[in-house]
Amino acid sequence: MKKDLLDILVEISEKMASTLKEDELLNDILEIAQEYLSVKRISIMIINGDHLVIKAAVGLHLDYKSLKVPLGNGISGKVATTGEPIVINKGSSTNWELGYDTKSYMSVPLRIKDKLIGVLNLTDKEDDYFSDDDIKIAKYIASQCAISIEKAQIYESIRRSENLQLIGKFTSTIIHDIKNLLNIVQNYVELLEIASEDKSDFKEYVDNIYTELKLIHGLVMDILDFSKNQITLKTTKIELDDFMEYIIKHTSIMLKPYNIDFYVNYPPGIIFYGDKDKLFRVLFNLINNAVDAVGENGKIKLKVLQENNHLLFIIEDNGKGIPAEMVDRIFDPFYTAGKEKGTGLGLAVVKDIVNAHNGTIAVESKVGEYTKFLIRLPISG
Ligand SMILES: Nc1ncnc2c1ncn2[C@@H]1O[C@H](COP(=O)(O)OP(=O)(O)O)[C@@H](O)[C@H]1O
Ligand SMILES: [Mg+2]
Repeated sequence: MKKDLLDILVEISEKMASTLKEDELLNDILEIAQEYLSVKRISIMIINGDHLVIKAAVGLHLDYKSLKVPLGNGISGKVATTGEPIVINKGSSTNWELGYDTKSYMSVPLRIKDKLIGVLNLTDKEDDYFSDDDIKIAKYIASQCAISIEKAQIYESIRRSENLQLIGKFTSTIIHDIKNLLNIVQNYVELLEIASEDKSDFKEYVDNIYTELKLIHGLVMDILDFSKNQITLKTTKIELDDFMEYIIKHTSIMLKPYNIDFYVNYPPGIIFYGDKDKLFRVLFNLINNAVDAVGENGKIKLKVLQENNHLLFIIEDNGKGIPAEMVDRIFDPFYTAGKEKGTGLGLAVVKDIVNAHNGTIAVESKVGEYTKFLIRLPISG
């Protein structure tokens, strides 16, 4: 049975109140509208430069994400320039911009305040006739979609300015950390100059410089990753064997001064997909934290297991552990505890990168005994 108009309006406003996830919300609104107005296809196109691109759609079968319609072209292109709705009823076969032939077509403008931002298209009405009421409802749906898009834009700009404020607030602390690390490097370079007469201490000093530079590089990368609003992944094919060798090479030097027992185990011959540099940051940050937690003569284990279509990375240390009341906060940006040199960015970045890979992260710990981070990543990236 067809739903009442009132039910539809209530359903749409409830959806809008319940989520800030723009894509999901637009899709839900379009599905409701598609059902109520009995149209085959419904889409939202947004002005991007001098083109219209599809932001959300229901009922389209082609790969519409790459489609661009020049402003002024076709029905939707015209509506997006004039701001006037176009309705075609029982028309002769209209060759729509998306390549569908359709006998009924309605395109209404999307506006945020007075600004034209795109169009809402509805095609192939059940009886190929849009009534005046249908047009009013389509305009209402368009206004709700515009509100959702505006809400998402506002939310994004708040998030961005909060991030920038936080970075501003902590810049001096972070710069201070970088300065301390660079001082250590400088000291070793001076020692190298002195020791260049008698070359025996060379290797140790160079190793130490290398470790400190790695830490500085890591810190700078964390700040950069964090300051971006969204992590963009450069996903490639990764051979687990190579990846693990790379991790061992670049972290073992960090463990050496503390005489830490580093145990690594992973199944051979596995191929997965992801952003190699970013996943390196994940493991580097976790190993770095484990080093801080165990101190001298500790043990750190890095294990990888395959679980169906996921890889499970386990990083375990026998260090001081994390008290239960802290566990919920350790992933918060700038949360740091019990360290002189902490910035609190490490785990925030780890979490962002894991989420961007559609992975999950969990932590198990017992104070004074151990800490275990478990990361699940889809093999397909
Ligand atoms: N393996 C671990 N063992 C004990 N505590 C940890 C471990 N990993 C993280 N923590 C706690 O979580 C906090 C946040 O970590 P992180 O975000 O990397 O920031 P930072 O290392 O700069 O303090 C750390 O300060 C520490 O108190
Ligand atoms: Mg850290």
